[in-house]
Amino acid sequence: MSIVGIDKAALYSSHYAVELSTLASARGVDPDKYSVGLGLHTMAVSPPDEDIITLAANATAKLLEGESLTDIDTILFATESGIDQSKAAGIYIHRLFNLPKHCRTLELKQACYSATAGLQLGLSLLKDNPKRKILLIASDIARYGLNSSGEATQGAGAIAMLLTVNPRLVAIESGSGFVSEEAMDFWRPNYRDEALVDGKYSCELYLKLLRESFEEYSQVTGRVYADHQHFLYHIPFPRLAEKAHQKLMLCSLVSKLDSDSLSALLHPGFVYGRQIGNCYTASLYIGLLSLLEQHTQDLSGHRVGFYSYGSGACSEYFSGLIQPHYRKVLHASFHQALLAQRQILTYQEYEQFY
Ligand code: HMG
Repeated sequence: MSIVGIDKAALYSSHYAVELSTLASARGVDPDKYSVGLGLHTMAVSPPDEDIITLAANATAKLLEGESLTDIDTILFATESGIDQSKAAGIYIHRLFNLPKHCRTLELKQACYSATAGLQLGLSLLKDNPKRKILLIASDIARYGLNSSGEATQGAGAIAMLLTVNPRLVAIESGSGFVSEEAMDFWRPNYRDEALVDGKYSCELYLKLLRESFEEYSQVTGRVYADHQHFLYHIPFPRLAEKAHQKLMLCSLVSKLDSDSLSALLHPGFVYGRQIGNCYTASLYIGLLSLLEQHTQDLSGHRVGFYSYGSGACSEYFSGLIQPHYRKVLHASFHQALLAQRQILTYQEYEQFY
């Protein structure tokens, strides 16, 4: 059976950001609430002329540098901040990059989960025709509104991934656990630019579906907690992913880690998310790049557990194996420079952009 997975990936986030300490002082909140309680430091802020297409185009430009485009025959674009109810965002990417005429293009929606739906769909297409390459993009601008309860958990970013046979980054293993449960934890009806959210309930549901999808994953694959060296989560804010990991250990009857060991295990996957904020569909996969680029050890051959959650709600637990020469296809210095060179906004500038 062919090995399929993520061959390369590149991320892009806005050139502007606001420090959460700045937001905290504007809101009269203790800054530790955001930095410790949520685990966030800065939040990417999109200027008025940026949308999911420009974010995606920038990520795709880096991804496709030096790449032969002729075998790309599918564009899967995952987003929940779509700019059109009818036309798929990927059509613009198809034109901008002059991708082959014989290419199918599709936009996917199920809150933050849809990039994982795109991954699984793309991988099954690869099994059909191992010569093809699939462009999978996840791009979102997370907006809750000025002075709203979710304001500190906004963000913006895109990740572009190339899915192929014999991938160089991560091989995705077959077998996963998935769950759907209708819920009103977070939603954005057509008449609104900003999401509505029942924040506490959304966190509870995120944790409940983690247990249910991991149990199903374990049953289907026979893998247990100890079979994984790394754990990645959808990251609306890092503190929730930490709680999720503690819950996974508890459900797996694994003894609790002290806070230093927990941080050593999870921190590399949080480095980018802490600086960007929630990017909805892209967040889990930005966590993957953060792990691969920020971990100081060689992770070749290590197994990663992935928890994907999308409000509304649908979740999936699956796993991947980090490939032997993964470091050769990373864009670590590009990503680090991108984040380091952002313009930090004053509170007034943030409000004007909004
Ligand atoms: P809130 O009411 O502002 O915050 O909402 P809080 O009062 O719950 O405080 C947050 C944490 O900070 C708490 O920690 C406090 O104790 C702590 P916890 O008790 O939960 O462990 N805290 C402090 N810590 C240190 N020093 C202090 C301090 N003060 C307080 N001085 C909430 C927080 C996340 C609910 C809100 O920001 C929100 O609604 N965000 C949006 C929803 C969200 O992110 N949900 C996550 C799960 S759903 C999901 O992930 C899907 C999603 O990505 C959408 C999709 O699928 O498309 C959102």
